[in-house]
Amino acid sequence: MAQDAATPWHVEASRYPATGPDIDKYRFLLRYAILAPSSHNTQPWLFRVYDDHLEVIADRSRALPVVDPIDRELVISCGGAIGMIRASLLRFGYSGDIELLPDSADKDLLARVKLGSPHEPTLADQARFAAISRRRSTRRKFEDEPLPPGLAEELGELAQLDELELAVITGSEAKSDVAELVAEADREQHKDPDFRKELSEWLSSRRTSSRDGMSLASFGAPDILSSVGGFIIRTLDVGRRVAANDKRLASNSPALVVIATRDDSPRDWLAAGMMHVTALLAVTARGLTAAYLNQPIELAKFRARLKGLAGVSGVPQLLFRIGRGPEVKPSVRRDLEEVLVRPPRARVKSYAQS
Ligand SMILES: Cc1cc2nc3c(=O)[nH]c(=O)nc-3n(C[C@H](O)[C@H](O)[C@H](O)COP(=O)(O)O)c2cc1C
Repeated sequence: MAQDAATPWHVEASRYPATGPDIDKYRFLLRYAILAPSSHNTQPWLFRVYDDHLEVIADRSRALPVVDPIDRELVISCGGAIGMIRASLLRFGYSGDIELLPDSADKDLLARVKLGSPHEPTLADQARFAAISRRRSTRRKFEDEPLPPGLAEELGELAQLDELELAVITGSEAKSDVAELVAEADREQHKDPDFRKELSEWLSSRRTSSRDGMSLASFGAPDILSSVGGFIIRTLDVGRRVAANDKRLASNSPALVVIATRDDSPRDWLAAGMMHVTALLAVTARGLTAAYLNQPIELAKFRARLKGLAGVSGVPQLLFRIGRGPEVKPSVRRDLEEVLVRPPRARVKSYAQS
């Protein structure tokens, strides 16, 4: 592996430039933004840092046209990066002033973020911030134990603060109904050679060395298989196997979580992205972990059934299971320098024009 996968995950909060210029603070906050989860670990974000704000930009060259044809998950992933910035701002003593989609003429400019006003970090702010570098997607079996008391309520309150709906499903019958839906969607997705090709392109050793994409190890397979995993997925329809595995994992997890938005616009996707990382950090802070099962949302025809099973009135955007899982390695990340873009030069009016 070209990168010690742990490096970007090791950020020392004590190096935050509290007394330095704001531009250094913005740069430092981005060290946490790049630890956000993203679909297929595409890390589809770019950032611009100015003296008094930062900008989050969609990198659509990293789109997944088959599984995510309208860039919904791409925008959710960028929302996740914004959520990580928000969690860090709260810890470093700022309320955060986040303007989503600030320029109607530029749909790639997803957010403009300023420090905002002074804020006294709460214990929960501190715990969620400390969880940023410990958060993982853990696609393994979770312990058969109930959720810690108060966690479901905490997640519900966090969603309410962001004006989103969040359902926590813990009943065995409801979990197995959702698990069945996930399995159906798995089988359908894997039948499509284009889906398999796209997945395999983000699931290979070459990707791991470019510090994006997923290793087979993150799916519980031996490391050594990573170099052939892409080939296997591309050539064989392993849908039935994936479906059976996901069904078991989903129905045996302590809880399934669905996050839903009122509408289905880029603004909703950003809000869902931000909120869901706050939820993942709250889960991590309690010593638990999560794994996504977004298949029935990715295939639009399953969404209505998921909506009914979760009992939400809005549009489901994310489905994940939570519980206590084994420790897994962090996934790779590109360096911050790779995702920083220069601000455009200020236009200087030349004398010749006047
Ligand atoms: C919008 C979104 C959708 C995702 N969907 C899935 C999914 O359906 N299945 C899955 O195993 N992981 C899914 N993931 C998890 C990513 O694969 C994971 O975040 C990425 O590989 C990086 O790993 P990490 O979360 O451990 O940092 C999703 C992540 C995001 C943000």
